[in-house]
Amino acid sequence: MKKDSFSREVINAKPFLKWAGGKTQLLSEYNKRLPSHIIQNRTIKRYVEPFVGGGAMFFFLNRNYNIKESFLFDINKELIITFKVCQNDHRELIDKLSEIEKTYLKEPEENRKKFYYKVRDLYNSQMNAFNYRDYNSEWIERASYLIFLNKTCFNGLFRQNKKGEFNVPFGKYERPKICDKNNISQVNKVLRAVEIFNADFTKSRKYVKRGTFVYLDPPYRPLSDTSSFTSYSKEGFNDEDQKKLAIFFEKMDKKGAYLMLSNSDPKNEYPEDEFFDKLYGKYKIERIPARRYINRDAAGRGDINELVIRNYM
Ligand SMILES: C[S@@+](CC[C@H](N)C(=O)[O-])C[C@H]1O[C@@H](n2cnc3c(N)ncnc32)[C@H](O)[C@@H]1O
Repeated sequence: MKKDSFSREVINAKPFLKWAGGKTQLLSEYNKRLPSHIIQNRTIKRYVEPFVGGGAMFFFLNRNYNIKESFLFDINKELIITFKVCQNDHRELIDKLSEIEKTYLKEPEENRKKFYYKVRDLYNSQMNAFNYRDYNSEWIERASYLIFLNKTCFNGLFRQNKKGEFNVPFGKYERPKICDKNNISQVNKVLRAVEIFNADFTKSRKYVKRGTFVYLDPPYRPLSDTSSFTSYSKEGFNDEDQKKLAIFFEKMDKKGAYLMLSNSDPKNEYPEDEFFDKLYGKYKIERIPARRYINRDAAGRGDINELVIRNYM
């Protein structure tokens, strides 16, 4: 295995799922805003991410910095079982995905569509009786279904209805990469040394110590009443949760952690909206330009700002 100038394995892992709110396009902006000692030493001693989602930031940091210890959290159990399968059984996962890929790609569109809905129905019907608590071999199959659905569904996003069912329709792609063997192997290397939790963000509290770097990317506050963009999971995230998060931020600040938080900027739509400015008034609030493709109508796809809030300079 190649080593870089910091004598560690070269890591090339990228998110293995496309996730709502994925941060890939903003990474270089976040990178410039990391704590200066991290930029200088290229090392993060302890990393905590309470809303990991697809993990764009986590994988980016692993590609560019030497992270000694990481603790990842998300409330979405389907997401977390998939992370854990990548961590524990990536070879079996690759086998299952490559089987699915072979079956799927050789079919014409009409049959692909039937196959997609068959897997989606099966995935949803298994949900109620599924054991999400104790790691077992059934997790491998479920993780392979989630990756398959994610790679072949319309817009490639994971979305659940109130009952927790995956409800995205079929997407037409010529040759979707269902089994990205190299990436899953890279992801596995990164995850071996990581602790992953299916839990509310508040549970990450005890892993945050003086000097820990914490990146927080909670579900967006909807830009408008019609935006359905906070439905990552059936739990949702309302203004009360945002306030609870601000209290958490303050507590972690008192512990001496370095905190970076991103969110949508309500001022994009309502210039007088001071929600986050009030909540995080004590901290450094920046507005950085971002292009977001959330709104369904083309008119809503303009340049907008994204909030970055830090407790350090
Ligand atoms: C904006 S997304 C994170 C996206 C991620 N930064 C990425 O690049 O893919 C927010 C995540 O928070 C999770 N979430 C929602 N409520 C939560 C809670 N109370 N505690 C922990 N995670 C939660 C959602 O499941 C979702 O994965």
